[in-house]
Amino acid sequence: MIQKWKKEFELGHPTIDVHHRYLVLLMNILYESIKSDSARSQSIDVVQELKEYAQYHFNAEEQLFEHTDYPYVEHHKNFHKEFCLTIQRISELIDEHNSSAPIELIEFLNSWFINHILTVDMGILPYLNHQ
Ligand SMILES: [Fe+2]
Ligand SMILES: [Fe+2]
Repeated sequence: MIQKWKKEFELGHPTIDVHHRYLVLLMNILYESIKSDSARSQSIDVVQELKEYAQYHFNAEEQLFEHTDYPYVEHHKNFHKEFCLTIQRISELIDEHNSSAPIELIEFLNSWFINHILTVDMGILPYLNHQ
């Protein structure tokens, strides 16, 4: 397991928390899939799901901004793009049969994501509460 879900990661927004939790779960599954040398097709499926769900989550989060006075929309969107680019890179490396790089990149992706929740996403909260 790369990352256990912790109570401190929760924003208290039910939808966002469910999304975050599922993304962490997918990163764990991907990590285990690569680490245990499972069939490459399994890793390809998980990375595809991660890619699609991350996009779905980011769209939902960005939709939320639209209804608030949150001032860092563009800045926040750029972070989301950065995350998607890293998933894309992992996906390409899996396709290219590179076995060692993805583990490090998934570790990077995971710590990036947890840090994003704790610093950037948490910063949305004051604006959601004052709608
Ligand atoms: Fe975010
Ligand atoms: Fe988020």
